[in-house]
Amino acid sequence: MLKVFYQRFLSANPGVQHYACHSHHYWPDVTRDAMLKYWDDSAQWVDDKWDHMFGETVPAVQRLISRVLQLKQPSQITFAPNTHELLFRLLTCYDWSKPLKVLTTDSEFHSFNRQIRRLAELPTIDVVMVPTEPFADFRERFVAAAAEHQPDLVFFSQVFFNSGITVGDLPTLVDALEQCCRATIAVDGYHAFMALPTDLSALEGRIFYLAGSYKYAQGGEGCCFMVVPATNSFRPLYTGWFAEFGALSGERQAQVQYATDGYRFAGATMDLSAMYRLRAVLSLFEERAIGVRHIHSYIQRLQQRFLQELARYDHPWLNQSNLLQSHPDEHGHFFTFRGPSAEVVAELAEALKRRAIHTDYRGDRLRFGFAPYLELDDIDLSPLRELR
Ligand SMILES: Cc1ncc(COP(=O)(O)O)c(C=O)c1O
Repeated sequence: MLKVFYQRFLSANPGVQHYACHSHHYWPDVTRDAMLKYWDDSAQWVDDKWDHMFGETVPAVQRLISRVLQLKQPSQITFAPNTHELLFRLLTCYDWSKPLKVLTTDSEFHSFNRQIRRLAELPTIDVVMVPTEPFADFRERFVAAAAEHQPDLVFFSQVFFNSGITVGDLPTLVDALEQCCRATIAVDGYHAFMALPTDLSALEGRIFYLAGSYKYAQGGEGCCFMVVPATNSFRPLYTGWFAEFGALSGERQAQVQYATDGYRFAGATMDLSAMYRLRAVLSLFEERAIGVRHIHSYIQRLQQRFLQELARYDHPWLNQSNLLQSHPDEHGHFFTFRGPSAEVVAELAEALKRRAIHTDYRGDRLRFGFAPYLELDDIDLSPLRELR
């Protein structure tokens, strides 16, 4: 339906059915102009570049993101090239020489998973990982674990990267967690931002929320963000000069001071060309009145068509009975099928790729993502006839 916006990527990949958009989304053509604009602005502003960026570009992107997430305080959004930097900054707010308990799931993306497991090697850090499966009662089990372990920090994904399954309604989950423990709550929203309609207005000031440009926001790698609660006195140990922009909080003078807004969690010099691309995409959708709700319902139609097409081939394991799904209405924008083994899954993914069907896989799970540059009639899984 929106193919017209992606002519350059589409013409560079003729005949490809691109089902890996949940990892690497095609970039709309406006992002190319945005790259050139970044170059031109760098040439024009030279020494005044950062004043220009922080005076205009950053606030513009903060406002665009705020409108998508229905936030009232755009200045509480801070940026970094990847989410790992932001979550690590959050983790350094705690004193690792004292006991720290973290509640999370067994299905967090590697950026968090590796980092938290490495930290758990310290004697003071205790990590409780709740399995996401069985999905049907994940929320109940997660909240029960919060009540039992009384964590300091709770970290979970809105949509799990290894299944596409969502945690469901965020506000009610956060309410339940808050009722049973006093933890800081951080949500990895990368697989939801610009994919699932997400209204954070009731959670503003209550949670940290992380996402970025690389996936459904279509701006490419390099522009991740974190929504920071306004009333916090966190002092990240891992801090850079960007964290000192604007008004500074009046902690004791001898101490390092921090910005009073979201930039408290900022780092240091970064290439803002990705931010230009993100601004171009979000502006394009906003100008054309193409909201997340609209994109989401189109993706749901693609997903239904995909399942109908898949059913025609009666594949021994790539079929609906191996689809990980709990609530069809609340699923992320990719399907995950559990295969017999990591080897078999990798083989099928490679064979499909040779036939111009691009997917990706994680262990024994094959993932098919759906993007707005795919049309219903593009979906053709007939190569499955010969790939048993
Ligand atoms: C759930 C989730 N969070 C975060 C990321 C990206 O992490 P980072 O920005 O640290 O590379 C990904 C994948 O790319 C992901 O699937």
